[in-house]
Amino acid sequence: MFEFMSDLDSLIEEKTGLSLKEAMSIDEVNLYTRLGEETFWNLSKCFYSKVYSDEEEKWFKNIFKNKPMDEAIQNQVEFFMQRMGGPAYYSRRKGHPALIGRHMNFNMAEKAAERWLYHMRNALEEVKEIDEDSKIRMMKYFTHTAYFLSYGVSMKKN
Ligand code: HEM
Repeated sequence: MFEFMSDLDSLIEEKTGLSLKEAMSIDEVNLYTRLGEETFWNLSKCFYSKVYSDEEEKWFKNIFKNKPMDEAIQNQVEFFMQRMGGPAYYSRRKGHPALIGRHMNFNMAEKAAERWLYHMRNALEEVKEIDEDSKIRMMKYFTHTAYFLSYGVSMKKN
């Protein structure tokens, strides 16, 4: 497991130029306290409304076709608030996040990670309450995690 994680982190660093330390700069401040719950909800609502109406890349929105949008929003926002310094909302309701396992059955190709990040970057721009510093920290974390999931899922499958 240790090797799996460190190999994965080096692969991600090669791909994105982000060290693990940079990617985890979300932990140097409490973004939950700084931004507040309403802002987190606004971000996830904004993100998923883009995903579910992605007419340019229909294959991408189809990845989510079995899940009602309000449930996807709730799962994401609870996880984000928990991961960024807030109460353990996600784990109290659903247990360990185990993100690689929970993404195993989806198309997690690099192209999907790129499209996910494209929508997230736009959502972060649109939610005006998010200051520049928080935006940068969150985007680094999201970039790292999107490739972590993409590569992690493919390594576990092979
Ligand atoms: C790489 C591209 C990604 C794709 C294609 C993808 C796809 C999906 C899909 C289809 C779901 C199911 C919707 C649901 O049940 O809530 C989901 C759930 C979820 N995703 Fe992703 N995701 C990606 C990246 C990420 C990233 C970067 C994060 C975290 C930073 C993340 C966190 C989550 C969480 C917390 C859930 C809820 C899991 C659950 O409770 O079952 N995903 N994702």
